[in-house]
Amino acid sequence: MNTTKNTLTDGYATPLADLDEWESDILRRYPDPAVINENKKEEDFRNYQETEKDGVKEFYRLNHLYQTYDFVIEHKAKYLNFDKKEMPIWDAFDFLNELVDDSDPDTDLDQMQHLLQTSEAIRNDGHPDWMVLVGLIHDMGKVLCLFGEPQWAVVGDTFPVGCAFSDKIVYSEFFKDNPDYTDPRYNTELGIYTRNCGLENVHMSWGHDEYVYHMMKDYLPEQGLYMLRYHSFYAQHREHAYNHLMSEHDHKMFEWVKLFNPYDLYSKNPNQKSWDELRPYYENLVAKYLPPTLKF
Ligand SMILES: [Fe+2]
Ligand SMILES: [Fe+2]
Repeated sequence: MNTTKNTLTDGYATPLADLDEWESDILRRYPDPAVINENKKEEDFRNYQETEKDGVKEFYRLNHLYQTYDFVIEHKAKYLNFDKKEMPIWDAFDFLNELVDDSDPDTDLDQMQHLLQTSEAIRNDGHPDWMVLVGLIHDMGKVLCLFGEPQWAVVGDTFPVGCAFSDKIVYSEFFKDNPDYTDPRYNTELGIYTRNCGLENVHMSWGHDEYVYHMMKDYLPEQGLYMLRYHSFYAQHREHAYNHLMSEHDHKMFEWVKLFNPYDLYSKNPNQKSWDELRPYYENLVAKYLPPTLKF
């Protein structure tokens, strides 16, 4: 992917050098407590290059400007028919790896490595096998990028649309330019929803989380589906900004989302086993839960 701006329309600019830049920013905001304690290097997380910061900021400006209620409804209609492509999951991983930015020597991990590190850390801690599978597939929705979606419609912290944007969302000041910000249907605390209506009734901003949730919803236990669907909903699982929409059941299920999050953020392992070594285990795991081909 390139960093050139303005060669495309504003909305399709690619402010992030690659999608991992968004994840690095999350790590800066929510550093690994274990690493801070060990090395006392919290400032290291906060110190990163201006250029990266500018890219991330521009990325959020676009995300917060364009993620409207109407945008979400349109994209659900566009993608949730799953009529774009059909392939075995292994082909999907190859497809996903096309997202690697070869020109950037600092992009140490391809997408598959991140997925395997997450799933292997979950497996090593003895969690149920469906959770290992969640680790393996949680970012598969990033294939949206390869269908031509702009970065701000694939990654980024997610948040409800159809009601007021919380100021606990990162760079919330950028929501002032979102058309929904001044729309009286959508700019009250509850907007189109009712108090504690439950997240199954709430539309989230569009991205890889919502997409992979719908792809997997017939195949995994509910706890795993919550992990997939809400893993980027930092405003709730870290900041508790949307308790007014959450049901009792959501709160219980979010314990699983919180269990998953550190594996996503902090499971970098320099001694990762190779894919060739791991493949037999994952082939069995995938065959246990998923059909031979997946629809995209
Ligand atoms: Fe993700
Ligand atoms: Fe991830």
